[in-house]
Amino acid sequence: MSDTKTLLLLPGDGIGPEVMTQAKRVLDWLQKTGRASFTVFEDHAGGAAIDAYGVPVTDATVAKAKEVDAVLFGSVGGPKWDKVPFEIRPEAGLLRLRTELQVFANLRPAKVFDALADASSLKPELVRGLDLMIVRECIGGIYFGTPRGIETLPNGEQRGINTEIYTTHEIQRVGRVAFELARKRQGRVCSVEKANVMEAGLLWRQVMTKLQADEYPDVALSHMYADNCAMQLAKNPKQFDVIVTGNLFGDILSDLAAMLTGSLGLLPSATLGAPNATTGRRAGFYEPIHGSAPDIAGKGVANPLAQILSLALLLRYSFDMEAEATLIETAVERVLAKAGRTPDIAVPGRPVISTTEMGDALLAELEAI
Ligand code: IPM
Ligand code: MG
Repeated sequence: MSDTKTLLLLPGDGIGPEVMTQAKRVLDWLQKTGRASFTVFEDHAGGAAIDAYGVPVTDATVAKAKEVDAVLFGSVGGPKWDKVPFEIRPEAGLLRLRTELQVFANLRPAKVFDALADASSLKPELVRGLDLMIVRECIGGIYFGTPRGIETLPNGEQRGINTEIYTTHEIQRVGRVAFELARKRQGRVCSVEKANVMEAGLLWRQVMTKLQADEYPDVALSHMYADNCAMQLAKNPKQFDVIVTGNLFGDILSDLAAMLTGSLGLLPSATLGAPNATTGRRAGFYEPIHGSAPDIAGKGVANPLAQILSLALLLRYSFDMEAEATLIETAVERVLAKAGRTPDIAVPGRPVISTTEMGDALLAELEAI
């Protein structure tokens, strides 16, 4: 990798552009202080791309995303595009980007910042210190399996069809990511499926079991049905270290895990591909877990921290800039401990601040550390 790193920013829709503006300030700060040098490209995705180009992501944008070292994504979707054809809805742009980049492992950390334990809907003692990682398979399973579609039956009734499919190598490659992560954490992986009702889940369980025995005997592996996992996450979330699961269950369980932390506005994610055979570099796609939040878009009140923490993950996983990633995460912790709060994490006695003011507070903290 050359010294100058290339980056594509895709702010997307809703609050995406507002929170991306604050992430850009952090990028500028890293450059200004000589910590890194970036060449930054920016383009539309999702509804914004439908408006500008007629499709939720263009071939040119996909090509750019493949060419750069990493992609920082905002969020897509909103009521404005409710009526566009299903094939070109804003979300299709996100799914196409993930597929074209072959980023199959979606890392969704759910970490409770000390200052925010009270903001969780669970009792503080259940979530204080919580730090779990969901690894969600991201480009397979029922969101992509065929046959799919809506068909009309001879009796005139309609039938909607989707298919859950997982092959051995798809399970292994995401399993390896989970086991590798666990090695750097508490050394425990919980694999989640519905092996009691689904053959794809049964295969998932068998492949994970063999993978652990063959390659990761030092990591503890347990299995859990997805419905029980939802219950356990709400009951005793601190029992988990790394959870690895398929696309659909990961989508659902990661929203649940996110909410345990007190705010969706604080959670980043990283989606990684396989290491390149020659460079060793993985394709990396980084996005906050919160959506485009159309109800608060344009009001300047969105919490930019998940977007900024997504940038921190990008620095860590795509650019090996561990020190800078930790710096940003520490600054976020300090801001949460003392500065004002955006409305999503507001508490009595603390001023409610805007998106920009949160950006200001974060930059001040970065300067101070
Ligand atoms: C997510 C979102 C997306 C998904 C949608 C917007 C396609 O819910 O990132 O979790 O289901 O993957
Ligand atoms: Mg989701």
